[in-house]
This record gives sequence, C-alpha cells and structure tokens, in this order.
Amino acid sequence: MVDVLKGENAIITGSAQGIGKAIALKFASEGANILIIDLDEAKAAETKKEINDKYSGVKVAVVASRETGDIVKWDNCVKMAETAKNELGGCSILVNNAGLTLDKPIHTLSESWWDIILNVILVGSFNMTKAVAPLMAEAKYGKVWNVSSVAGIGGNAAQINYSSAKAALVGLTKACARALAKDNIAVNVVGFGAVWTRLVAPHEDIEIMGQKMAQMKAVSGQDPAQVMKIYKSQLPMCKSRETPLLPEDVGNWFTALCSRDAHYMTGQWMLYSGGMVI
Ligand SMILES: NC(=O)c1ccc[n+]([C@@H]2O[C@H](COP(=O)([O-])OP(=O)(O)OC[C@H]3O[C@@H](n4cnc5c(N)ncnc54)[C@H](O)[C@@H]3O)[C@@H](O)[C@H]2O)c1
Repeated sequence: MVDVLKGENAIITGSAQGIGKAIALKFASEGANILIIDLDEAKAAETKKEINDKYSGVKVAVVASRETGDIVKWDNCVKMAETAKNELGGCSILVNNAGLTLDKPIHTLSESWWDIILNVILVGSFNMTKAVAPLMAEAKYGKVWNVSSVAGIGGNAAQINYSSAKAALVGLTKACARALAKDNIAVNVVGFGAVWTRLVAPHEDIEIMGQKMAQMKAVSGQDPAQVMKIYKSQLPMCKSRETPLLPEDVGNWFTALCSRDAHYMTGQWMLYSGGMVI
C-alpha cells in the first residue's frame, strides 16, 4: 500500500506501545497525521520520535501523562479533541485502543478492579467518541474503530471485568453506528485474539494505573513457557508460527479497513483471532 491514508488525521488511544503503537507507525507510513494518547509519557515520546525519524512528512502530536492522557476523564478527552483540531487540523480516524487487564477469579475480584476495567475500556471509548464526533461531523466524514477481544464474545473465566467491558463495546459500537451515520461517520469494532504484547506475553510484574498487574504465572497458574503451547493448540493459524500475531501484523491489516475505500461498512463486529473463535 502507498499513501493509503494520506491526509487523514488519526487519534489512537493507548499508542505508546503494543498494538496502538504499531497502528500509529503503520498509519504514519501511509501518510496519516497522528495524535498519540497514553498514560505513559516516556513511551509516548519514544513513539513520536520513531514516527518523526521514519516519516518526516507527517505531523505527530502527543497527549500523554497520567494526568492529561487518561481517557477516563471527560475533560481530558475534550482537550484531546482540541489538540487534534489545533495541531493536526481535525480528526478523521479515531481508534479506541487503550485497554488493560486486571485478572482475578470472580470471588476475589474487587470493586476497584471492576471499575478500572469498565472505566478504561467502556467509559474511555465512549468519552473519546463523544468528544471527537463533532469534529468528524463538521467535516462530514469519520471512522471510529473500537478495539475489543475474543474475551468479549466467548468470556474468560478469570477476566469477568475485561470480558464484560469488551462485550459492552459491541453495544456501544452498534448504537453509535446508528446515531452517527447521518454525519457520514462509520463505527465498527474489532476483537483480537492473542497479539504478542505485554498483555499476553510472559512478563515480570508491571504496574498500570497504580495497580499491579501480576506476572502471568501468578494469574493463570501457567508457566510462561506453557503459554505458547496453549496458544498453539487453541489457535489454528498459530500452529506454524513462532509467536501469535505480532502488533506490526495488526497495523498492516487494519490500515486497509481505515481507508476511504472501506467506508460503507458500519456497525460491524469482526474478529481477527487466527481462528481462536470460528
Ligand atoms: N494483546 C492481545 O492479545 C490483545 C487481545 C485482544 C484485545 N486486545 C486489546 O488491544 C488493546 C491494546 O492492547 P495491547 O496488547 O497493545 O496492550 P499494551 O498494554 O501493550 O498497550 C495498551 C496501552 O494503553 C494505555 N492505557 C491504558 N489505560 C489507559 C487510559 N486510561 N488512558 C490512556 N491510555 C491508557 C497503556 O498505557 C498502554 O500503553 C487493548 O484494548 C486490549 O484489550 C489485546
């Protein structure tokens, strides 16, 4: 693909690392201007530098810190939309990608971990869509993509909060698709299976939003080395690969869906899971 997104202005939440970063880099490589949103200021700055170094022709803006980059706070989202308008010239693509997992079995899942996950995934995506839709309506064009998970369709036993929030994104998507079509705004949702980022790859304990996300072994009881075996047995398309899908692979596939050629699709829920759900 060459310049498929030339002139587009894209806001990607959670784009300091992982899938969001890969999408930001791929979009920039196709000519889109990028607004990076994240809690992690240092990693967001690295992403901006990487885009600037590789793709000098595109504009890159950043709103990232624990205070200003948190999409759960409505006032932040209003300012993010203003930044897109002032620094990029508007917003034609919004990817509601920011998310996290805080996993516990149901009997030990705290109210606070329930609230954090529902707030980031569902309320954050709602806030961003509501804040950015007027910019898209003004331009009579826009695409919103919500990022869900196979957990939202099949449910994961130790991810009651995450599965609920990811399922709720489907309702948000369908209702917004109906509400915003009059302004030529398409709204869709993609559910990923396993993508090789810190969310699913073996990792040391990490902290997200002041909460400790335990090492995979502590949550699932599985040795990280076993995790690949499980993916390989669950994922038909993973059998011949070293790892599940890489974030870069997501960016490549996703770009075509964000082109103007794919604008007639709205309100749709699709899975990109290597066959985890068929
Ligand atoms: N990795 C997978 O296998 C997988 C599978 C299905 C769905 N997903 C979804 O894909 C999205 C990206 O996941 P990833 O694997 O790249 O994770 P990641 O942890 O690598 O990146 C997520 C980013 O979101 C940011 N973020 C979290 N809360 C935020 C908030 N309140 N405001 C702003 N930014 C916030 C984090 O700081 C982080 O940089 C998530 O929504 C996740 O649920 C991932």
